Amino acid sequence: MRHRSSIAVALLLSALSAHAAEPSAVQDSGKDINGPCAACHGELGQGGKRGEYPRLAGQKPAYLEQQLRNFRSRARLNIPMLPYTQERELSDEDIRQVAAYLAGIELRTEFPDFKDSDDALTRLEAMEKVMIIPKLAGDLANGKTLYDEECAYCHGGTGRGIRRFPMLVGQYTNYLQRQIDAYLKRERPHDSDETLGVLGRLSKQDIDDILAYITHLQDVKP
Ligand code: HEC
Ligand code: HEC
Repeated sequence: MRHRSSIAVALLLSALSAHAAEPSAVQDSGKDINGPCAACHGELGQGGKRGEYPRLAGQKPAYLEQQLRNFRSRARLNIPMLPYTQERELSDEDIRQVAAYLAGIELRTEFPDFKDSDDALTRLEAMEKVMIIPKLAGDLANGKTLYDEECAYCHGGTGRGIRRFPMLVGQYTNYLQRQIDAYLKRERPHDSDETLGVLGRLSKQDIDDILAYITHLQDVKP
């Protein structure tokens, strides 16, 4: 509590003194906090190793914050991340800043159109911001029907997430599958028990079709 109110005072003071400078200061420290995270999740939060490390870029900030608090308290167990959240005592303020920074990174799903005058560095930087999840085959009509009926309510009609409900589109399929397995084994809570019921009622084939459909939602504008 005392910690919170001192943050509030600090924020108020910085808002009063450096009105215009504040957003970039927050961004810089979000970027700094992300430094050690980038070793696994990438400089741009694009994740890596085909989904061993999930994408964080463009994820809902409220969701990122919630997960970081859950890792810190061990409500969601994540051994690789314990040193970065618990032992280094990532504060609530650090969590807010790194989440805002990561949520603000936009990755594209189509290759940029280069002009002849664009130099190699410009091209490289633009290409680093392209992230395309390989599209999977499956019964896409079944995937869509199930997604619209069972998932869209929380994860959004185009899979981009809503408030604290995470974006699923643009995330590695392997990672999503691993989380679904963790929910089914009750290693990780999926919202309420009722929602686990939804995942629990679906066949393996249905889940594969939903995951395939999610890869195709990349082309649908949010
Ligand atoms: C040593 C590697 C490593 C480092 C460093 C690391 N992470 Fe992670 N992180 C992981 C792994 C692995 C997972 C996925 C765990 C799982 O499969 O449940 C993960 C998951 C996450 C998730 C959950 C994503 C989701 O969609 O639910 C968030 C948020 C996250 N990390 C943020 C961070 C931040 C912020 C930092 C730096 C403070 C950080 N990580 C540092 C390995 C790492
Ligand atoms: C009632 C709301 C609700 C519905 C409906 C719902 N989810 Fe979720 N889902 C959540 C919440 C909340 C989380 C984050 C849980 C947490 O805090 O760990 C989540 C997380 C996930 C994740 C992990 C995302 C990540 O980045 O780690 C996957 C995968 C997922 N849901 C798949 C589905 C699928 C597939 C459906 C439909 C069959 C579905 N969900 C329906 C609320 C919902």
